[in-house]
This record gives sequence, C-alpha cells and structure tokens, in this order.
Amino acid sequence: MSTEQTYIMVKPDGVQRGLVGDIISRFEKRGYKLVGLKMATPGKDHLEKHYADLSSKAFFPGLISYMNSGPVVGMVWEGRDAVKTGRVMLGATDPLKSDPGSIRGAYALEVGRNVCHGSDTVENAQKEIKLWFPEGLNSWTSAAYNWVY
Ligand code: TYD
Repeated sequence: MSTEQTYIMVKPDGVQRGLVGDIISRFEKRGYKLVGLKMATPGKDHLEKHYADLSSKAFFPGLISYMNSGPVVGMVWEGRDAVKTGRVMLGATDPLKSDPGSIRGAYALEVGRNVCHGSDTVENAQKEIKLWFPEGLNSWTSAAYNWVY
C-alpha cells in the first residue's frame, strides 16, 4: 500500500447523465484528495494518445467517436492505493460484470457506455496525468490533516 495518484475521467455519457457530482462525491467521501479537476472536449488525436494501447482493437474507432461525442471531466485523486482502489470503485470494464456497489455496476449496462475511466497501473496513471494535466497539479493540505488520509 502506498500513496499514489490516479487519473479518473467521467466519460461523455456520464457527463450527459448528470453523474459528475456523484462520482466526485464517492472519491471525496472515501478519503481521497482532489489535486486536479477539469472539463475538456478532447479532439480525436488526444483521445487516440490516451487509448494508444488499444489501437489495434476492433472497437477502437467506436470508442474514439464515443469519447469525442461531448465533454469529459478529468480528475486526479491522491491517496493510499489510489490506482487499485480507484479501479475497484469504478467496477469491471463490462458493467454487467461489475459489483452493484461500484460506479459502473450502479449506473451502466453496456461496455461501450460505461460512464468512467480509471488508470489501471501506477505507470499508466503517471502517463495519463501528464497527458491530461500538462500544466501540473495542485498541492494543498487540509486543516483537518490528522483524519484526512
Ligand atoms: P479497457 O482499457 O480494456 O478497459 P477499462 O476502461 O476498464 O480500463 O478498455 C477501454 C474502454 O474501451 C472501455 O472502458 C470501454 C471500451 N471497450 C469497448 O467498447 N469494447 C470492449 O470490448 C472493451 C474491452 C472495451
């Protein structure tokens, strides 16, 4: 277990369905610290970089046009085991296989409209944070430092 940063993104369907607040709230209440937050309408080139590892997959063109269909909300959360725990909070890639208490398990039915993205490894988190937040992150300390993880 270590203090990590992870890149979490509400995808266009999540923004359009009004799920941004709920997703932020889940990470805040869990005890993670918000160090980056922005709404963006990324172009295809940017999305192709984000999903470069999947470029050979048959679903890639559909994935890029879906991600390009409206604004997304990207955020960076920091805290204990943020990458792995963030993935657990999101649920499985296929919402039908997600725990019902997870974000995808609670709000989605289709793999191609699964509401949110979360980095899968610490290395990929660092790459994604650089890609989406080239200007850098925010540093702050809570007044209630003792009980914020
Ligand atoms: P992937 O990186 O495998 O999953 P995750 O988002 O859980 O890290 O895939 C990226 C996205 O691609 C996934 O969230 C939804 C989409 N996708 C499909 O549309 N069809 C598929 O069969 C798969 C595996 C993914």
